[in-house]
Amino acid sequence: MTLNLDTRQRAMLAEMGVRVWLPQSLEPVELAHVQVASQEASASPAPQPVRSQTAAQALEPVLAQFQALEGVAEMDWPALQASVAECRACGLCNSRKNTVFGAGVAADATPQAVDWMIVGEVPAAAEDEQATPFVGDAGVLLDNMLRACGLSRTPDAEKESGREKGSVFVTNVLKCTTPGNRNPKPEELAQCLPYLQRQIALVQPKIIVAMGRLAANALLQATVSDVQSLPLGKLRGQVHRYNNTPVVVTYHPAYVMRNLPEKGKVWADLCLAMAHLQAL
Ligand code: URA
Repeated sequence: MTLNLDTRQRAMLAEMGVRVWLPQSLEPVELAHVQVASQEASASPAPQPVRSQTAAQALEPVLAQFQALEGVAEMDWPALQASVAECRACGLCNSRKNTVFGAGVAADATPQAVDWMIVGEVPAAAEDEQATPFVGDAGVLLDNMLRACGLSRTPDAEKESGREKGSVFVTNVLKCTTPGNRNPKPEELAQCLPYLQRQIALVQPKIIVAMGRLAANALLQATVSDVQSLPLGKLRGQVHRYNNTPVVVTYHPAYVMRNLPEKGKVWADLCLAMAHLQAL
């Protein structure tokens, strides 16, 4: 199969520092052949923590204790939105300004089946302020990458331009920010996970992109036995499963902003996801 990138998409990738090399006839496995221009960023992004393994390592036993958050597994979309908005299941409710449910086609009243679901980690201060995921610097990078794939979480823009390649819903593992953007505690992750699980069940994405360690752990704990001890780099480059949904793991945009050569790897992972979707 071939991956058709129009001039605008190529320009965007060039702007992001990603130089794409694609052979004429491309097999999905070859999509990882992406070269990265190793230029430095002109502006350095506000530092965001790289989520450590420590919180996640202790996740499993805690999950067993907490996973039955009352009734979430049966909620419809409006009930789920209300439940997240009012959630007081852990101490983060005391420090948050807003909950951050998600953004994209399914964000409003009715859930629609979506093509892509992007799962990040934890809302930061900007997201808490605006009640929207990925609105800071990492969000700008995420949006640019999505646009390069013909995707947008403001779908009308892409639809109008005729470039739309699918619908997107963006959310996080945690629906509340943490004080000082600290790593979440295992019990906070465990309490929040049923919300993400229900979101996935309701929007039925064709593919999920897990961005960052916490997202990979949350989604792959049932299918990759040693997920918590595997470096993220080892989880990339293949299509995993969450229940029956394909999952592609990649680096978190905030990490990429501090490690620009990794941009090409994220692009390769998005190409893998695109190729997998096209082959469905
Ligand atoms: N980082 C995330 O993982 N999610 C956000 O929404 C913002 C920053």
